Amino acid sequence: MKVDILLGLQWGDEGKGKIVDFLGKKYNLIGRFQGGPNAGHTIKFNGNTHVLHTIPSGIFQKKTKNLIGNGVVIDPIIFSKELEKLHEKNIVFEKNLFISRKAHLILPTHRYLDAASELEKGKKKVGSTLKGIGPTYMDKTGRNGLRIGDIESKDFKNKFQALSKKHNKILKKYYNYKNPNQKKDEAIWLKSINNLKKLNIVDGEYFINQNKENKVLAEGAQGTLLDVDFGSYPFVTSSNTVSASACIGLGVAPNKIKKVIGIFKAYCTRVGSGPFPTELNDKIGKRIQKDGHEFGSTTGRSRRCGWLDLPALKYATIINGVTDLVITKIDVLTNLSTIKICTHYEYSGKKIDYLPYELNNKKLKPIYKEFKGWGENISTETKFEQLPKNLKKYIQFLEKELNIPIKIVSVGPDRKETIYR
Ligand code: GDP
Ligand code: IMO
Ligand code: MG
Repeated sequence: MKVDILLGLQWGDEGKGKIVDFLGKKYNLIGRFQGGPNAGHTIKFNGNTHVLHTIPSGIFQKKTKNLIGNGVVIDPIIFSKELEKLHEKNIVFEKNLFISRKAHLILPTHRYLDAASELEKGKKKVGSTLKGIGPTYMDKTGRNGLRIGDIESKDFKNKFQALSKKHNKILKKYYNYKNPNQKKDEAIWLKSINNLKKLNIVDGEYFINQNKENKVLAEGAQGTLLDVDFGSYPFVTSSNTVSASACIGLGVAPNKIKKVIGIFKAYCTRVGSGPFPTELNDKIGKRIQKDGHEFGSTTGRSRRCGWLDLPALKYATIINGVTDLVITKIDVLTNLSTIKICTHYEYSGKKIDYLPYELNNKKLKPIYKEFKGWGENISTETKFEQLPKNLKKYIQFLEKELNIPIKIVSVGPDRKETIYR
């Protein structure tokens, strides 16, 4: 068995869905290893747009199996809606979609706990997608969680009620929070569990290891700078988003990992709160947001935009052991006369090229290198050599600095708008 990993090197939304779909047919299994419905992975082909939250992005390849790994957290309501949408578009998933018994369930009260925690934090809120991700992972590590395997047991409803009751106590006593829709939400949730029961529930770790011929692509969610250990803590998600997490979240051994494909946008975006050293609060930031359609695929919130941050990107390639790079959304920079890359920061009066412990916008001033832009439309280009000279210079500079080849250049959202080098 051979496992490659594809993951985001920034704050998420790098275009993981598009590239997993593009590479999908080279693999016979795609496995999501962490995160949950906080993710929104967009895939475009044949005039259709699909947004996936929990389902791996290999689902559109007829011969590729898709596994939702034990590291993922699943909201049965959102998941049922995803299945329904695929069904409406005549995408056949019944044979190709598998869920690990050890994946954890997001309860309605996990969502309420997320909301209550954010309300209490006020201005210091994380800017969570409010999908219940944090509280669900807290219950997992706190050894209180409910797992997919539990839905097969006779006393599942009792287990559900016991956990929900515990959450209600916390919500009432600690947060003084009550959701008026709880009864309705819980009834829909329990009904949605039946949709899960109809799917292929497997022991994911056996499933993935049993076939020695398996060529697996592990699909990450979020991005390295949102990792709970290595990201801009506490403004992060609640799972490990880095390559090491693929082993834990799927049950594969580290010696099975071959390529680590790191994906980044030609600029940076971030949804939610937290430091963002190269953020542009000006006309150029607005222009990138508009041309890049930088609005969240899960929440619809506008994404903050800024120049590419090389010290952060280098950091991400080290933590993940990136072997191959993918750059996306380079087309969005077309027609800018000057393009900047942050190569260093000024921090406490010193010039540094690493990420300091405290990523405070006020203390960290980006130092930029400027590049000349290009005006040609590149979305129909199929060969790297044909791209504008200034664009190639920009890419070659990054390759040299990162010392890792950029194997794929994405020049538009569609599956076809992809240059493989
Ligand atoms: P993910 O979470 O990493 O899968 O990324 P999202 O789907 O949340 O966000 C990426 C957005 O950019 C989606 O709307 C994609 O359709 C779009 N996209 C992906 N690659 C490109 C590209 O190269 N150029 C442009 N213009 N859009 C892209
Ligand atoms: P994909 O897979 C971008 C951000 C949220 C918030 C923080 C914590 O599409 O790249 P959470 O809901 O996890 O408690 O939110 O993380 N966030 C994402 N930002 N893309 C994502 O996923 C994200 N998933 C979570 O905006 O700042
Ligand atoms: Mg996304």
